[in-house]
Amino acid sequence: MRQVHICEVGPRDGLQNARHLMPTAAKKAWIGAIAAAGVEEIEVGSFVPPKLIPAMADTAEIVSFALTIPGIKVVALAPNVKGYERAVAAGAHKVTFPVSASRAHSEANVRMTPEQMVEEVKQCVQLRGKSGPEIEAGISTAFGCTMQGEVPEDDVVRIAVLLAAAGVDCIALADTVGYANPAQVKRLFSKVRKEIGDKLEAAHLHNTRGLGLANALAAYEEGVRHFDSSMGGLGGCPFAPGASGNVITEDLVFMFESMGVATGVDFDRLMQARKILVSSIPDEPVYGHTPLAGLPKNFRQAA
Ligand code: COA
Ligand code: ZN
Repeated sequence: MRQVHICEVGPRDGLQNARHLMPTAAKKAWIGAIAAAGVEEIEVGSFVPPKLIPAMADTAEIVSFALTIPGIKVVALAPNVKGYERAVAAGAHKVTFPVSASRAHSEANVRMTPEQMVEEVKQCVQLRGKSGPEIEAGISTAFGCTMQGEVPEDDVVRIAVLLAAAGVDCIALADTVGYANPAQVKRLFSKVRKEIGDKLEAAHLHNTRGLGLANALAAYEEGVRHFDSSMGGLGGCPFAPGASGNVITEDLVFMFESMGVATGVDFDRLMQARKILVSSIPDEPVYGHTPLAGLPKNFRQAA
């Protein structure tokens, strides 16, 4: 039984910021291999204007493909109602919206203020009716912003409360630019949970200053059981200056499994998926300590 839940965001967060385009066929093979490793949730792409992010132009086809893989939750990012409608048409199981706590990042990323973005998400919740996809809001730049600098914790709490009232199913706190530290992670998750309870679900952490795993562990200790991560540590928001890759899936799986916390993910099979990633965009830098060093001889998969 899984004790933590990992959502692989490489095909979306990773490829949106990669210098090299992964061909559609390779994306399918990669996503298939990630699922075969036991990853239960995959953010496969985003429904944004293809002109803005050409790497995401094939997302509808990728969602249709991913829907043929049994047992996985297929997630897509949408920045507005139009993106939501495209995600619904494609059949995504879950749609995630980036709602920045920083006004500067919000305007750069989605050309809306945080409050306008909350209204956009609210419209999607209302459009959904009873049978639509699960709706998540990720609060971007929750721990600081490269444009605005400080992001007051009260702003994050306020946005979280507005989103919960808007009727989203779950909320994630995102360290978009890798500013967070473990003490801050604990404090902010605790503060937000006090206001919105279990609607606060996931940690979306970037590894820009090497604190990705430390922050993930801090979140785990604070009771968080859902984590986004990216294979090879790809990732970053193209509209947040200085953003770089997510916490590395391979190292996150190693950390939890070696702690005895089951992820449901098989490390060796994850490495097979990594081979597909590396061979399909060979000039793209990839990261990860465990993939380089290999598993320790005394490693045991958590029961
Ligand atoms: N998918 C496809 N096309 C879309 C779209 C979507 N989700 N949303 C808008 N468009 C199209 C419009 O139809 C319009 O097309 P036209 O020029 O042919 O008429 C054009 O894009 C501009 O639409 P508009 O509503 O004015 O959007 P905008 O230019 O103000 O941009 C967003 C707003 C939200 C669409 C854009 O900022 C965005 O996609 N941001 C997300 C960026 C991102 O992916 N960041 C990383 C992930 S956090
Ligand atoms: Zn991200």
